[in-house]
Amino acid sequence: VFNHLVQAPEDPILGVTVAFNKDPSPVKLNLGVGAYRTEEGKPLVLNVVRRAEQLLVNDRSRFKEYLPIVGLTEFNKLSAKLIFGADSAAIQENRVTTVQCLSGTGSLRVGAEFLAKHYHQRTIYIPSPTWGNHTKVFSLAGLSVKTYRYYDPATHGLNSQGLLEDLGSAPPGAIVLLHACAHNPTGVDPTLQQWEQIRQLMRSRDLLPFFDSAYQGFASGSLDADAQSVRMFVADGGECLVAQSYAKNMGLYGERVGALSIVCKAADVAGRVEGQLKLVIRPMYSNPPIHGASIVATILKDRDMYNEWTIELKAMADRIISMRQQLFDALHARGTPGDWSRIIKQIGMFTFTGLNSKQVAFMTKEYHVYMTSDGRISMAGLNSKRVPHLADAIHAAVTR
Ligand code: LMR
Repeated sequence: VFNHLVQAPEDPILGVTVAFNKDPSPVKLNLGVGAYRTEEGKPLVLNVVRRAEQLLVNDRSRFKEYLPIVGLTEFNKLSAKLIFGADSAAIQENRVTTVQCLSGTGSLRVGAEFLAKHYHQRTIYIPSPTWGNHTKVFSLAGLSVKTYRYYDPATHGLNSQGLLEDLGSAPPGAIVLLHACAHNPTGVDPTLQQWEQIRQLMRSRDLLPFFDSAYQGFASGSLDADAQSVRMFVADGGECLVAQSYAKNMGLYGERVGALSIVCKAADVAGRVEGQLKLVIRPMYSNPPIHGASIVATILKDRDMYNEWTIELKAMADRIISMRQQLFDALHARGTPGDWSRIIKQIGMFTFTGLNSKQVAFMTKEYHVYMTSDGRISMAGLNSKRVPHLADAIHAAVTR
């Protein structure tokens, strides 16, 4: 009965790892998926995560019971505090509802399903370009997806005017997907002043912000600084949605732990929103997994562990920044044609190199360097030893 099926294409990001795993070359380098690697090129489990897991394992009072549909209460409270700030008026006024979801993707999907069912405007504007999965998440939930200008290839920076024009002509009430920080794939974020312009425009047109916060702490190394865009929108008392992921900032990729928060104008509305979110979640996966959320809650509620986490997080962010400098220096030393300053200007896990799909294919074939075909490289996958190899590959691709 499935004979008619055609071969499905691999995922544009996760498929890069599939291809990488098949390559027997000893010099291969995976800069596709945004996953942190150490200087030794190994995945990293944070020390504070190991400590939290040890505490959980030793606690004989813990069971493997179902969580409530909305997840671990303590985790939800702490997640809201992390993104909105300890002194958030919205939290104090009980205007925020937070539900534990399956990492960033799951949080976006639950939010999208909720909006498709209950929000009057079914159009969502996403930046061009954006993370490849956004279009699929929103369109499969039943929203109509449109794009707004974001990246300017000429300046390798933000197309601020294009962005404001496109959002200015979006229909009133439209949903707008915003990357809270460390825009994926471009590494280009609005300045605080530009964020303020975006906020004013969006509020004046009743556009509904939906933040994707997958890199809190990764852009600048500071959890508060990386939440400023979100907090700006919450401080004005208006509504917004936020999808949070702990994949990158706690290295909990495979634990699939994240949260969706919906900020409302009044506490009673937030209560009803939560009830409706439960109706969305229950038929999808009943309730979320317990382990990852317990790790996060253990760390966030303990001052000492929280501090240890911020130090380890900063170390990851700093290593990525140092990779940027090293790659830039290596290209400079080779005299590689082009302005590569974007490598040090962009922030977060990724560099949007400007290399085209042919150049990427060349680098993969000749140098066994794996990256997404849009020219995005995960700086988090690079280490000092491999910088020369990558610089050689880029140089060869640009000068051939
Ligand atoms: C990425 O963009 O590489 C990450 O967000 C991983 C993913 O799921 O695509």
